[in-house]
Amino acid sequence: MAIRQLRYVNDPILRKKSREVTKIDDRIKTLLNDMVETMYENEGVGLAAPQVGILRKVVVIDVGEGILKLINPEIIEKEGESLDIEGCLSVPNRAGKVLRPERVKVKYLDIDGNEKTIEGTGLLARALCHEIDHLNGILFIDKVVEEVED
Ligand code: NI
Repeated sequence: MAIRQLRYVNDPILRKKSREVTKIDDRIKTLLNDMVETMYENEGVGLAAPQVGILRKVVVIDVGEGILKLINPEIIEKEGESLDIEGCLSVPNRAGKVLRPERVKVKYLDIDGNEKTIEGTGLLARALCHEIDHLNGILFIDKVVEEVED
């Protein structure tokens, strides 16, 4: 595993759409492992592939309930609203309140290519939405309703 270089807010790659993964090969598995290591090294709770310069639909999340490796994640249900503070490893020293669903259901492929779903509430729902936004070139600062001191 290796720590990869993070991309920061003015890097145009963060504004591009990621492509679906059609084959889960060794490159994708290495990418996922490197993303996990990079997320932990930077004390994040989630990381999306564009943040390490790769435009593929791949995210990793750990909100304290173990590592999630999600390929081609897509929100299929959402419910409720939650306004809370968010930050992003690609947007250092900034934080703000963002409105997110309280609960989401996401479908994805695991590293063996099995189609799975995960339901998340609270912080996990927030992390899922934030990371999936990255795959569409969206940053949390686009959605901030109120900036707060980081
Ligand atoms: Ni982020």
